[in-house]
Amino acid sequence: MGILEGKNILVTGVLTEGSIAFDVARLCQEQGATVVLTGVGRTLRITQSMGRRLPVEAPVVELDVTDPEHLGALADQVKEHVPHLDGVVHSIGFAPQSVMGGNFMQAEWDDVATAIHISAYSLKALAQAVLPLMSEGGSVVGLTFDGRFAWPVYDWMGVAKASFEAVNRYLARDLGEHGIRCNVVSAGPIKTTAARHIPGFDQMEGNWSERAPLGWDSEATEPTAKAVTALLSDWFPATTGEMVHVDGGVHAMGQ
Ligand SMILES: NC(=O)c1ccc[n+]([C@@H]2O[C@H](COP(=O)([O-])OP(=O)(O)OC[C@H]3O[C@@H](n4cnc5c(N)ncnc54)[C@H](O)[C@@H]3O)[C@@H](O)[C@H]2O)c1
Repeated sequence: MGILEGKNILVTGVLTEGSIAFDVARLCQEQGATVVLTGVGRTLRITQSMGRRLPVEAPVVELDVTDPEHLGALADQVKEHVPHLDGVVHSIGFAPQSVMGGNFMQAEWDDVATAIHISAYSLKALAQAVLPLMSEGGSVVGLTFDGRFAWPVYDWMGVAKASFEAVNRYLARDLGEHGIRCNVVSAGPIKTTAARHIPGFDQMEGNWSERAPLGWDSEATEPTAKAVTALLSDWFPATTGEMVHVDGGVHAMGQ
């Protein structure tokens, strides 16, 4: 029996088979969950085709996390496929290139605001939108890139991630009374579409695999997806507001 047997999980952020969320959705199904995906805008059809590539075809509902109408309709849309949710995965990130790649001092507020809206505020927006479906409690899990540090080229996306991690802590505070745990997984660098969008991503990747006591494969999403799946399960019953590192151990090393 899988660790998610009988659970219903909403997974955002499946864009390609290389998306972290694709592996999360696959592992959730393998562990017994029913999975509903969300897709956005021009890439909705791609997410639909990804849904057909999962072990069990997963339905896709439309969600742009910045669109109040989508957020308002989300619970009803999800209800067409599952009666309630036990977990939701936030695997969404975006920042205009103008606020990354070494442009920290040049970045303008409008572009920074876009990064923070999509990459940080959206965790609260998503959790709030699905709250009516989580009356029996559950688990909210997000993906971050350790926002405690100033990384090369990450710039305002790093600020958005620090904010995202703070949003997670406040959500943990406010949703605990509903029996909802809120945690984030801090992954090492992985060559996904979002990562390729960061100008100079190779500088972030740097010599990560040499610095990691366990080594690091920047092509592999499964180690990160396994941690997300575990946090969705009943095996972290008293953990909330936490950041779990899946980075080969780099976060614990001095330079
Ligand atoms: N790749 C890495 O190195 C790495 C490391 C740590 C954390 N992360 C985080 O993992 C998460 C998933 O990213 P990924 O690396 O799998 O890349 P990805 O490009 O496969 O996924 C990013 C997703 O965000 C979605 N998205 C963007 N704007 C959206 C919006 N307005 N509404 C709804 N969805 C929107 C995209 O459609 C896409 O599915 C992100 O939060 C990212 O920051 C990635």
